[in-house]
Amino acid sequence: MRKKIGIGLLGLGTVGTGVAKIIQKSQGRNPLVSEIEIVRIGVRELNRPRSIELPQHLLTQKPEEVIDDPSVEVVVEMMGGIEPARTLILRAISAGKSVVTANKAVIARYGEEISSAANKAGVYVLIEAAVGGGIPIIEPLKQSLGGNRIQRISGIINGTTNYILSRMAKEGTSYKNVLQDAQKLGYAEADPSADIEGGDAADKIAILCGLAFGGRIERSKIPTQGIKNVEIRDIEYAAQLGYSVKLLAIATSFETKSTNKSSIPLAAWVQPTLVANEHPLSRVNGVNNAILVEGDPIGEVMFYGPGAGAGPTASAVVADILNIAGIHSLGSTNNSLDPLLAASSWRNCHLVEPSEIIQRNYVRLNAKDTPGVIGLIGNQFGNHGVSIQSIVQFDASANDAEIVVITHEVTKGQAMKALSAIKNLPEINSITAHMGCL
Ligand code: HSE
Repeated sequence: MRKKIGIGLLGLGTVGTGVAKIIQKSQGRNPLVSEIEIVRIGVRELNRPRSIELPQHLLTQKPEEVIDDPSVEVVVEMMGGIEPARTLILRAISAGKSVVTANKAVIARYGEEISSAANKAGVYVLIEAAVGGGIPIIEPLKQSLGGNRIQRISGIINGTTNYILSRMAKEGTSYKNVLQDAQKLGYAEADPSADIEGGDAADKIAILCGLAFGGRIERSKIPTQGIKNVEIRDIEYAAQLGYSVKLLAIATSFETKSTNKSSIPLAAWVQPTLVANEHPLSRVNGVNNAILVEGDPIGEVMFYGPGAGAGPTASAVVADILNIAGIHSLGSTNNSLDPLLAASSWRNCHLVEPSEIIQRNYVRLNAKDTPGVIGLIGNQFGNHGVSIQSIVQFDASANDAEIVVITHEVTKGQAMKALSAIKNLPEINSITAHMGCL
């Protein structure tokens, strides 16, 4: 009988437990699953009640023991957070062990460091579970879409906020009321601020950018707006205009024939965005994620499925373990890495200034309900080269009016200049919402 492949888990929370359950019950799955054996598990608490039975002697509170155990060939990091996860991943690489990780925060920030260390050591670091939960998106970008020039990625890549926005739309209730449910269901992070404020989606779009466009971008420079300020009335107005509100992460290439090839200009951002009802992303509800990839020559391809939760994330982690197990099972003595699976950066990319981002805008203004106010707003947009697609007065109560504007595509710089001029008009009380529009 062939020797099983020993894996060591770092973390036995929701995802770790999901992974262990798949490995324990291999029947009906790919035969490689039965060739995997969990030989060591790093946990925070040894005696916590768990929904899975595992021999107690596998557990240790010292993660280093998992990495250093000679029977561990693949280290599966599912602890989350930056440290000690980053250090442990690097330690595993130095020990010559391949790593599977769901840790988007570490990969988005230290991906370059980790991938050069892995290439040097001749090991793989696979990250399918880091973006899109159970949706296969990382390997398709690395392998199946490799013949394309990718132009744009637009995604709903945070399950928690999509769950919250979907329930707000359906029930007319505020985000605070539904957040707790999202946490109970295991979608939100222990600290939900990364979900709510858009940081989780920014980590994920940074990772997708690196794979889709071939070069890493600086995670900290991604303009990021979360869902905290999305009000029920914006969702209702959007619905009346034929849109739904989604937290989108978008990355787009500005590469043209005349681009200076030393570095490719990209834009990437995270923002609540109105999505037209006929757009495929508008029908993505609940904890589901979807990633729309536009490339040449493929055109548009959309990846859709459960974006968070124990089972889907564990499915992605196990897929990566199987990829490595498959290579190990060849028993190859050739130490070189499969370049498609290892997927290093192959060119330099950089983010353009946020003011150069081009998109349509949704703006909600609170104005005095006086004659000519819509004309004044229109003039200011016009003076700054911003063309209006629609302008609607939704609600006039007492002396105030609520006015919603949707612009045509403009640069963010133009939109911001127009809005700051509008804000200074004596007839305008406030600009109460500003989102993107697809
Ligand atoms: N908190 C994340 C989400 C989990 O809601 O999408 C998956 O990365």
